[in-house]
Amino acid sequence: MSKRVLIICASVHHKNTLKIAEIIGKEFNAKVIKPKEFELEMIAEYDLIGFGSGIYNGKHHKSVLNIIAKLKNEEHKPAFIFSTATIPVKAMHKDMKRSLIEKGFDIIGEFSCKGFMDYSFTKYLGGLNKGRPNAEDLRKAQDFAKEIKHNKY
Ligand SMILES: Cc1cc2nc3c(=O)[nH]c(=O)nc-3n(C[C@H](O)[C@H](O)[C@H](O)COP(=O)(O)O)c2cc1C
Repeated sequence: MSKRVLIICASVHHKNTLKIAEIIGKEFNAKVIKPKEFELEMIAEYDLIGFGSGIYNGKHHKSVLNIIAKLKNEEHKPAFIFSTATIPVKAMHKDMKRSLIEKGFDIIGEFSCKGFMDYSFTKYLGGLNKGRPNAEDLRKAQDFAKEIKHNKY
């Protein structure tokens, strides 16, 4: 039987991260929801949970971090983390990763790529990372999902 996958994604700036959530979601035939649609009982209804958002001031969006803070303790429930950012480095996943591990989740994968940003002074430059995520980013996100599906999960 195929695994049930839930993806919780906050994508508030330009819907950059939503593009990643949707392509990963398509590969898993997952349910993709916004944080405000989340209900605590959902965790038990799914076998694998993806948590993602843009990176804002060095961390994931507070709406997703707040959900994790409210979760019950799990016993090795598989989860993956994803994000888009101006400078996509996994160090920005640190807070989310720590909280998920504290709640008993096993992190089975992490994905990050560039996302368009025109916040603050960068708008006077026409923004940074124009067109990102692009087709190549989406292909890598799809490969990420395939790898989890076929190799690790
Ligand atoms: C208020 C704000 C703060 C941000 N802080 C960071 C940051 O600390 N590091 C970074 O690499 N990108 C930062 N960004 C850029 C976003 O992470 C990037 O544009 C991301 O793709 C937005 O995703 P979204 O469209 O899904 O919201 C910031 C953007 C905004 C609007």
